[in-house]
Amino acid sequence: MALTGLENNDLKLIIFGGKGGVGKTSCAIATALSLSEKFKTLLISTDPAHSVSDCLELQIGFKVVKVEGIPNLSAIEVVADEALSVFKTDHYNELKKLLATSTNLDGEDIEDMLTLSIPGIDEIMSFKTIIDFIEEGQYDKFVVDTAPTGHALRLISSPKLLDAWIKVAAKMRWKYRYMITSFSGSYQVDDVDAFLLSLKKTVKRIENILRDQTRCEFIPVCIPEAMAILETERLLHDLGKSEIIPLQIIVNNVMVSEDCSFCKLRKDGQKKYIQQLEHIFTDINKVQVPVFAEEIKGVTQLKKLKKFLFEDGKER
Ligand SMILES: Nc1ncnc2c1ncn2[C@@H]1O[C@H](COP(=O)(O)OP(=O)(O)OP(=O)(O)O)[C@@H](O)[C@H]1O
Ligand SMILES: [Mg+2]
Repeated sequence: MALTGLENNDLKLIIFGGKGGVGKTSCAIATALSLSEKFKTLLISTDPAHSVSDCLELQIGFKVVKVEGIPNLSAIEVVADEALSVFKTDHYNELKKLLATSTNLDGEDIEDMLTLSIPGIDEIMSFKTIIDFIEEGQYDKFVVDTAPTGHALRLISSPKLLDAWIKVAAKMRWKYRYMITSFSGSYQVDDVDAFLLSLKKTVKRIENILRDQTRCEFIPVCIPEAMAILETERLLHDLGKSEIIPLQIIVNNVMVSEDCSFCKLRKDGQKKYIQQLEHIFTDINKVQVPVFAEEIKGVTQLKKLKKFLFEDGKER
């Protein structure tokens, strides 16, 4: 079986997730390479380790760069800290005014508060960056590489966190609003209210696309080993809580050869896990990728992986 449906025009966002070291980055890049043959594609890494640069043998960083030699493919590594810092700079006045009007903090305390990190804000800002790209509409497809499972799940649940933060801020604002209305009889909506409203809209935009199976697909990557299968089960369970239902799973590192005793032993050992995967994930398309003799690094190797993901390993 090969990966299917990714060329549907409505499908914009494809997110790869899974346990550490199972092949998420390799599969995300190979998918982006394949899609770039027909679509303008942006490969986005949200993994702080940023192995996309290493795997593509290209220096990327927090700016969109064209992938040399691959027309239609660009890449960016979202640096959460930098995304947050851009956000804080862009909205410094509103954030400051929010704290000044809704708390008893003085100028210095407010400055201190603004330098503090809010838990989960990194993922929120990473996702906001992705959504902004999608809405700018300069690309047809967005392929996202994530860090191991917990990170992908935090990324997915980041809208909920932001929503909770907005609720607290809005509550603080209500008190302020009530006070102003009591004293002056009326209240004029200001830039802080507009800012909170725009954040609320960001949450809605992220949630809408994540839950929309025609526009967003999450592809778990797994390997035929006990721990990886357990983690994939948990991942699917947790994704389900956010109404995200994967349609296909990549089963990477499958031993195909029986040419040597080590290969045969490995293949036999994997057999029960491959059967287990069939048994557990009955309604999901399973795409098997063999273990290669060499590591997957550089475009030539990535194109080889692409063949297994999209063409069952056959030459076109
Ligand atoms: N099918 C394969 N055959 C051989 N090597 C592979 C295969 N798939 C991945 N690799 C190698 O395994 C290592 C891990 O792959 P990759 O970086 O894609 O995994 P990852 O899930 O993104 O890891 P991390 O969780 O650290 O981000 C890399 O060295 C890669 O070249
Ligand atoms: Mg990776």
